[in-house]
Amino acid sequence: MLTLSLSDFTLEHFMQHYWQQKPVVIRQGFQQFKDLISPEELAGLACESDIESRLVYKKRGKWQAESGPFESYDHLGKTGWSLIVQAVNHWSPEVAELVKPFDFLPKWRLDDVMISYSTPKGGVGPHIDLYDVFICQGSGRRQWRVGDKGNHRQFAAHAALLHVDPFEAMIDVELLPGDILYIPPGFPHDGVSLETSMSFSVGFRAKSACDMLSGLADYVIDKELGSNLLSDPGRPIHKNQGQINASDFALIKAHLRSILDDDTLLADFAGSFLSRTKCQLDLQALDEPLDAVELIDTLQQQPLARTGGLRCFYLDETLSKGVCYIDGERHAFGAKAKAAVKALCDRDRVTHTQLLGGLKIPEFVAALTQWVNAGYWYFEN
Ligand code: SIN
Ligand code: CO
Repeated sequence: MLTLSLSDFTLEHFMQHYWQQKPVVIRQGFQQFKDLISPEELAGLACESDIESRLVYKKRGKWQAESGPFESYDHLGKTGWSLIVQAVNHWSPEVAELVKPFDFLPKWRLDDVMISYSTPKGGVGPHIDLYDVFICQGSGRRQWRVGDKGNHRQFAAHAALLHVDPFEAMIDVELLPGDILYIPPGFPHDGVSLETSMSFSVGFRAKSACDMLSGLADYVIDKELGSNLLSDPGRPIHKNQGQINASDFALIKAHLRSILDDDTLLADFAGSFLSRTKCQLDLQALDEPLDAVELIDTLQQQPLARTGGLRCFYLDETLSKGVCYIDGERHAFGAKAKAAVKALCDRDRVTHTQLLGGLKIPEFVAALTQWVNAGYWYFEN
């Protein structure tokens, strides 16, 4: 079990003074940290078409980026390149363990664990990210420079590489195995490998209002909601034909706001939207599907583990009705399933005892059986 150790401050101090505010180096955040995957295994994952990966290097001084899947790495020399693989926590239970030390943040904020293997002088170049990231240094050393937030010009160093102009460093450090660099969104940074190295980046996403509104629009269209027309009975005589006057503007705003003020609609949207995965899951459907009785029997012997990266949430607003959102879908099992739904969403492993209330409800058992057969949850033995 990986434990995060903060020697210079407490977690409360980190959340109050650094999270979303400023970058910080956490020396030996993971003591005796060992790579959670080998470079060979990582290179193997990048050969799979279901897995998102990139190679970044320079050719005759010009930045290059190639997207996977890759068939070979023979065209790359011994230095100056990086292989980056996205959402490795979906594919490797060992890498998924790296998410646990960050459980002081809710899962809906988590994005994924991205791993980069870099040869000496390798890196992706100076850039700005739109997410919070804890870059955990694995084997090898890497030099990191981080600049202050500001008006940095961004440009495409390559069609697939958004870079930022040179910046003054507020942090300029050599990360050693076990060190962690936390960077909030908007701070320019650049990591150059000093030797062959591995970095494990635990990323936290935040949706822009634009993302959320576009998701909400898709949701109301899909569910055929929000089709009631703007209405204005008792309207006074209008004077200026070209004018959308203040009271009309207020009417339009109120009409739109009625969607946002509908807590049930918005909770269902938020749960469904945020539980959707960005990258594919490693769903291993059972060759011999279980029936409900077999499922409960096996659950009495061993816990169910959730597949890496599966997103399952509940909201305080809807939990009392036994509602949860799993991989983009809403499920309602009724009030008696409340504790089971909570356990399923809060825990990476659930036992028969924790699910007991739900196991008395046929709909819950049917859904759980289906999820296990499809590979969303699995028995480790
Ligand atoms: C990398 O690990 O190579 C890039 C990580 C980052 O800067 O976001
Ligand atoms: Co970055």
